[in-house]
Amino acid sequence: LGEINIMNNKKIIKASLFHSPKYGEIEFLKQAIIFITDNGIISKIVKQEDENYQQILNQYSHESNFFDFKDKVLLPGFIDLHIHAPQWPQAGLALDDELSYWLHNFTFPLESKYKDINYAREVYTDLVKTLLANGTTSAMYFGTIHNEATLELAKICANLGQRGFVGKVVMDDKNMNPDFYRDNSTKEAIENTEKIINDVYNLSKDVPQGVYPVITPRFVPSCTDDALLELGKLAKKYDCYIQSHCSESDWEHNFVFERFGKRDTEVLDHFGLLTDKSIMAHGNFVNSDDVKIFNHRKSSVCHCPISNSYFANAVLPVNKLKKEGLNICLGTDISGGFSPSLYDNIKHTVMVSRMLNDGVDNKLDANNRGTHDSKVSVFEAFYLATTGGGEALKLPLGLFKEGYICDFQVIDINTPNNKLPNYLDNEEDKHLLQKILYLSTSENIREVWVQGKQILKIGRA
Ligand code: GUN
Ligand code: FE
Repeated sequence: LGEINIMNNKKIIKASLFHSPKYGEIEFLKQAIIFITDNGIISKIVKQEDENYQQILNQYSHESNFFDFKDKVLLPGFIDLHIHAPQWPQAGLALDDELSYWLHNFTFPLESKYKDINYAREVYTDLVKTLLANGTTSAMYFGTIHNEATLELAKICANLGQRGFVGKVVMDDKNMNPDFYRDNSTKEAIENTEKIINDVYNLSKDVPQGVYPVITPRFVPSCTDDALLELGKLAKKYDCYIQSHCSESDWEHNFVFERFGKRDTEVLDHFGLLTDKSIMAHGNFVNSDDVKIFNHRKSSVCHCPISNSYFANAVLPVNKLKKEGLNICLGTDISGGFSPSLYDNIKHTVMVSRMLNDGVDNKLDANNRGTHDSKVSVFEAFYLATTGGGEALKLPLGLFKEGYICDFQVIDINTPNNKLPNYLDNEEDKHLLQKILYLSTSENIREVWVQGKQILKIGRA
């Protein structure tokens, strides 16, 4: 380890940490030493059992750029890959109706307000701060149809230190969208999309943690064939991220099949919208053939379990899809999902999987009630929120690993207003992670670091 060059390792931290290098597997490193370059990349991890651990500790622990997190615990920064930023004002509201009614009567009127840039700035600043306080260091957002407000969201992510992926929503079909909230024409929708791609790329030049444009057809029902085709061409021209909704609900899935005689996945693929940078929300009704298309294109599905409980009409069979090789990440889907916390979505991933596994209709006998082998563990759900997100983005994110970007949250289990119980003898390391995932709140997240830099610190941390 003589090759470690202090000049290129601008920060050194000592901490205990959890991460999930493989689906279902957890690694715990106790009091590891992590070297971080001035670009925020992990250049070296020294484990407690490494022979020169003590020597390195002696050598660096008195440096001014040495940070000792002592008995706090580091988790990778969470990666939330499906959020509707403009829907934050109605989080928790209007969840009793079905998707199409909810869109037309609550969501579109709210989203239309973002032509007012001041309103956008106020809401988006509050949302990005809230997500960071919940440990979310990378976030993929739907904006609205408005370029100005969407660029403002990108700037807010850039300034507050979050790694943001932002898209101007395209919804150009005059028959499917209300006059008060849709693109004026297909041509304008495409021109505005190309413009914001360039504006966000320009902005990103000065943003260390990155800010990225995302091509964003709202979903197939809201777009004309021409718009879908042109957006696919833009995706190719700029090699940029793509987000949409895919096979979310019975209504959406069946509507697309009736319009094209093809499944949602096939239609998205036909228009060039499934690439290795595509992240499609929900995917509740994708079948094994669809998964083959996703895998062939290296596209990902973003699981939104809370939102799905309201609008999806089904539970995503995470285990079955993972076995078929699909990459799955996690999203809050604000405000189809009411919570800005991926902790809540990790828990809900586990709980809905248990209902899928056991079934819910007590009139059926136990053998015929559920869909067996559907249980998702809390560690598997943690993988979706971290490593799975990095894989979906095709970025070195979500793990504490050499060459990876250094994003993390610092958990204090002894915080006064939410002290996690610690009374059992001889607890395994993994029990600590289970308690953190089930019981901690933003109260326990004392610091958040993005790209090797502390961007949030709370109270006495
Ligand atoms: N499908 C199209 N738009 C939306 C939206 O805003 N939320 C959800 N959950 N599904 C959608
Ligand atoms: Fe959504």
